[in-house]
Amino acid sequence: MVIFPQLRLRRLRRTETIRRMIQETRVEAGDLVYPLFVQEGKGVKQEIPSMPGIYRFSPDQLSAEVEEIAGLNIPGVILFGIPEQKDEVASMAYHPEGVIQQAIKSIKKTVPDLLVLTDVCLCEYTSHGHCGVVSNGDVDNDQTLPLLAKTALSHAEAGADIVAPSDMMDGRVKIIRETLDKASYQQIPILAYSAKYASAFYGPFREAAESAPQFGDRRSYQMDPSNVREALREVEEDIAEGADMVMVKPALPYLDVISRVRTIFNHPLAAYNVSGEYAMVKAAAQQGWLDEKRTVIEILTAIKRAGADIIITYHAKDFIRWSASV
Ligand code: PBG
Repeated sequence: MVIFPQLRLRRLRRTETIRRMIQETRVEAGDLVYPLFVQEGKGVKQEIPSMPGIYRFSPDQLSAEVEEIAGLNIPGVILFGIPEQKDEVASMAYHPEGVIQQAIKSIKKTVPDLLVLTDVCLCEYTSHGHCGVVSNGDVDNDQTLPLLAKTALSHAEAGADIVAPSDMMDGRVKIIRETLDKASYQQIPILAYSAKYASAFYGPFREAAESAPQFGDRRSYQMDPSNVREALREVEEDIAEGADMVMVKPALPYLDVISRVRTIFNHPLAAYNVSGEYAMVKAAAQQGWLDEKRTVIEILTAIKRAGADIIITYHAKDFIRWSASV
């Protein structure tokens, strides 16, 4: 056995070139997906106060943004909608002229090769802000399923490339797969938000998307942050129902979950570096308390090192610009 003084691990850290050669994890543009908030209306480009650098766009204002994203070699965007009207059954989530359906068509016209992922959920479209149909004070799983399926189908019809259900209902992947297949959308993959936790880190998103629940919270459908074995059961359920890819969300406080899912399953794995994670970095950087560039590179590298193949992040554009300048 070689030990000190023959063994010296610092030998391989001596120069930048050696460090580069033995680097185990490198985040690339191709790993990233950029979230976009689309608001119904015209002429809207409005910065989200708790998420500096992130805007809500109306569908007619998207072209410059998606050209920039595609120009940075980011392979895809994931869309979240802010409709003008909300009701008990989230009608605007599956309306053929809904805000997301308009946005998909507009993006596909501008940059046909940019992958368009859609968040399939009802919370932005319901008057009460919950992710499904409310009955007797709780979200009713089975009444929600057909609405989610209708929503996913309408996204596919508008031209979405991948649908990503984030509602956490049991059985949603199965009904979405069946619905898409019946309508000849067999080629559209499902990225399931499988292990989605009831997290405080979604705060800025809910402000951005106007989707905070009007009563109660989401703990009867999203997961308890204490649990990791349950996350594996959620992933197992979604894979059994036909998910092509699975997700852990949030990312940074759940690196152990990402790592466990990576070890046990072979499906492509996404991690969502959520709004609160972004807001924390931005706020500290604005105060001069953190070096934003180094912090972001370290965070995204850690998420990939834990086992994520795909990272959904609001930092995507900055990250690519910074890595190009290194
Ligand atoms: C919709 C949804 C949420 C996020 C993604 N999809 C909010 C929630 O569940 O309340 C959060 C994303 C983020 O915080 O960046 N259900």
